[in-house]
Amino acid sequence: MSETITNIDEWRKEDADAWPEPEFRGHSIPGYRYSSTEFFEKEWEEMWTKVWLLLGRANEIPEVGDYQMEEVGPESILMVRQPDMSIKAFYNVCQHRAARLVFNDVDNVDAFICPYHGWRFELDGELTYARDAEDFPEGDPCGKMNLIEIPCEEFAGFIWVNMNEDCESLQEYLGPIWDEWSRYEIDDWKRYVAMTVNTPVNWKVTLDNFNESYHLPTVHPQTESRIEENYRYTQFDMADEGHARMWMRGGAPSRQLIGTDRPLMNPGLEDQLNRWGLDAKDFEGREFETREAIQNAMREKGPEMGYDHFANLRDHQLTDTYHYFIFPNFAVSVWADGFHFLRATPHPTDPTKSVFDNWWYAPVPKDNCEQVRTILGPMDADVEVEPDRFNYGDKSMGLLIDQDIGVTGGQQLGLRSRGFKGVYLAKQEHRIRRYHEVIDDYIEGRRPHGGKPVAEAAE
Ligand code: FES
Repeated sequence: MSETITNIDEWRKEDADAWPEPEFRGHSIPGYRYSSTEFFEKEWEEMWTKVWLLLGRANEIPEVGDYQMEEVGPESILMVRQPDMSIKAFYNVCQHRAARLVFNDVDNVDAFICPYHGWRFELDGELTYARDAEDFPEGDPCGKMNLIEIPCEEFAGFIWVNMNEDCESLQEYLGPIWDEWSRYEIDDWKRYVAMTVNTPVNWKVTLDNFNESYHLPTVHPQTESRIEENYRYTQFDMADEGHARMWMRGGAPSRQLIGTDRPLMNPGLEDQLNRWGLDAKDFEGREFETREAIQNAMREKGPEMGYDHFANLRDHQLTDTYHYFIFPNFAVSVWADGFHFLRATPHPTDPTKSVFDNWWYAPVPKDNCEQVRTILGPMDADVEVEPDRFNYGDKSMGLLIDQDIGVTGGQQLGLRSRGFKGVYLAKQEHRIRRYHEVIDDYIEGRRPHGGKPVAEAAE
């Protein structure tokens, strides 16, 4: 074994400023937070409407007049490509008597014509036509009753919106994630798996699951072959803004295997070595040296395989898994050649339901996305896939997610039990505690560092 826990301390130093260690208040996380309508409404009013949300993908609306519509809880948001190629975001609601303007997820229009009484809103949201405009006692609505625009920015190829018009910039909000993600050149990556699933759990049940790796050996026993799952060798970080990062070594067996009867060299690792022109036989007895060898091979072969962005990445970004949580509802595992997009958004009215997006993105050429290929099998399309929408249980979401949602459905039921007194977290699950604290910060009127100040935040 060539690496010890000392390496983790060294890695930690590199990012100590960007990922400070916040102090925990240590408050409890009772079950009612996952089922109470009252808490659900507080979350919506005080948190969801105050944060940046990853909602759209810029390359899905490339032409002038293209729009993407996304629903978040009770709201529907339009993201619209403008004549100057910028993107504006609006609430999808007519200013006459509140009809939804569109119901398609993606389409192209010259203008938005309300289906109820025909008001016409231009791409920039201006109302330019209202039937019988002279008949309105409060004056001609045109130019006055425009669509309500909300802050909208692009980053990493995604469209982010914020329902708080007095918000901080997206870069301020994302904190250390901004610089780290910029290295991957994610903007051009394509989506090769897209499932949007109605799930029978509160949105936080899903995000709790993606904020800890404690469950991996139990729920996903197949992943120990190439990812370090031992928490003693995993780096956990939290940002002031409420985001978190988990850094797991890859390209080598997990130390969980030491002392077991399972082999250190396994088919998953062999496959990874083969992909980069290495032979597993050469690492017999020194299986933990595969990681550095794979990094060197990726440096050498990456450019000829179309991975120009490898030059921007640190050595460990080539082999390791970075699992990010972006407050409040987006978790993503990022590898050098792909990322797994996991997002949960609340049901419009029911706190015990949510919508879950399970998407995979990878750079072109697509078939080089190792994680997707390994977990889901070869991809056979050369174009981005459209989301497949269905209800939980109707079909498979892929082995990993089936395993996750299979346990969280039962957990949602348990959270309602009179026999449950609140979570009891290990230190390796502190990312859960942290993001629940930040939810409470919002509900109680505080804002994390970087947010527009309310009185308490300035103290
Ligand atoms: Fe839209 Fe009347 S509700 S025009």
